[in-house]
Amino acid sequence: MSSRLIVVSNRVAAPDPGNRHTAGGLAVAVKAAMRNRTGVWFGWSGKINDDPAEEPLVQRCNKVDYAVIDLSEADFQEYYNGLANRVLWPILHYRGDLQEYSRADQTGYMRVNRLFAEKLSELIRDDDVIWVHDYHLMPLARELRARGHGNPIGFFLHIPCAPPDIVQTLPHHEDIFGALTYYDLVGFQTERDRDNFAHYLTPMGATLGRNPMTISVDGRQTRLGAFPVGIETAAFARLSRFSMHSRCVEDVRESLQGRKLVIGVDRLDYSKGILHRINAFDRFLDEHPEWRSKVVFLQITPRSRSDIKEYIAIEDEVTAMVGKINGRYGEADWTPLRYINRPYSRTVLAGLYRLADVALVTPLRDGMNLVAKEFVAAQDRADPGVLVLSEFAGASAELDRALIVNPHESEAVAAALRQALEMPLEERQRRHDPMMDHLLEYDIDHWAEEFLSALGETRHRSGLLESLRGLFAVSLGG
Ligand code: ADP
Ligand code: F6P
Repeated sequence: MSSRLIVVSNRVAAPDPGNRHTAGGLAVAVKAAMRNRTGVWFGWSGKINDDPAEEPLVQRCNKVDYAVIDLSEADFQEYYNGLANRVLWPILHYRGDLQEYSRADQTGYMRVNRLFAEKLSELIRDDDVIWVHDYHLMPLARELRARGHGNPIGFFLHIPCAPPDIVQTLPHHEDIFGALTYYDLVGFQTERDRDNFAHYLTPMGATLGRNPMTISVDGRQTRLGAFPVGIETAAFARLSRFSMHSRCVEDVRESLQGRKLVIGVDRLDYSKGILHRINAFDRFLDEHPEWRSKVVFLQITPRSRSDIKEYIAIEDEVTAMVGKINGRYGEADWTPLRYINRPYSRTVLAGLYRLADVALVTPLRDGMNLVAKEFVAAQDRADPGVLVLSEFAGASAELDRALIVNPHESEAVAAALRQALEMPLEERQRRHDPMMDHLLEYDIDHWAEEFLSALGETRHRSGLLESLRGLFAVSLGG
């Protein structure tokens, strides 16, 4: 019997009878990677409960057991809103200035990591492979090791890893970032993220090896690698073809009345550069009056982490800016910017991507950005749309035929938008084809297989070491 895969993450895309749509790269990627695998997906139920059940709630779907626990109000505030999203999120997105650190939040973060380890511990079998995801759970391997679990444990960081100078602004950073050395393998979205982390570890005594990079801290060996996350390219392409004919997408098409469609799809998050993007659209309409009335910008932005000050502020600013642009340029029969806060099904999203002529994916900093990949996958090869992509999205390392922009330069984004809208078919195809081929090869299955086989190799190495030790023990004894 092959070993089970235990995936651990804060957010779990458990089967939902209400069929609500989860926005967020981790849930989308891990859900796809778990398809056709046997195992357990363990994490937070998304519910707050001051009297949580002793045992995780387990629900089986296909070959996966979804095991979730509730968090108390204090856990939610200190671990999720507090250290994870008010401190680690801004720091890792290069915004150390936005962190609001408190010792209580760090204590809460450690407490929830211990809680996860305690509850998970009961589910672990000796031959399980454990894969932990994202910044919420960096100390989890240390907690599991302390409970005697010698299983292979890997970690994948879905978001960027900032350079050491920024990471070190976190008080007691060694306690959290140093804990990553308890994993056998730590994966990052890009080589830049991996190298930032490796450089962070050198002053702590890490010896950097060659490629694949292996570091050694206090006698523990941890392998570091870049594993750019992919999407279910072929399935998403099929979905987009089919969903072009869905009612919702047909309605949007009709409402455009022949105008070009520019699309943006992001959680409402300051890292996504939504304000900068809308400013660039303002500049575009200002500088190119010939395009007024001929283009509609649809920005789909589900709310996210709405208890946090910066997220409330960004919502207010974006709403005000949208109103300003529509007031300034709009006509009775033309609204330049349609701004929507609700999540959509993947089917509708796929159809809207395909309908769009241009996607503006311009985060100020992003681990990967799956929206960029989904947009490319959803295009009709015979008449593809154009991707305008921030150089600060992890995806720009792969999608290099997109129009790459610096999102801070509104002139450049406005110029790229114009270039995209006016690009001849032959150039659109020349840019799109190689990106699509790349996404078909480096899809979500490739990502999961590469990571898990690298994790398997780490065990192979230490297994070898164990046998050598055993051999020595025997000969010494003899
Ligand atoms: P992040 O993980 O920071 O949210 P990504 O671009 O990597 O950013 O992933 C976002 C994922 O969430 C994508 O798969 C995207 O399709 C999905 N998503 C974003 N907005 C919506 C929405 N309005 N409705 C449904 N899914 C969404
Ligand atoms: O991909 C980054 C990420 O933080 C994931 O960890 C998370 O699932 C997603 O964004 C959405 O955020 P949240 O889980 O806080 O709603």
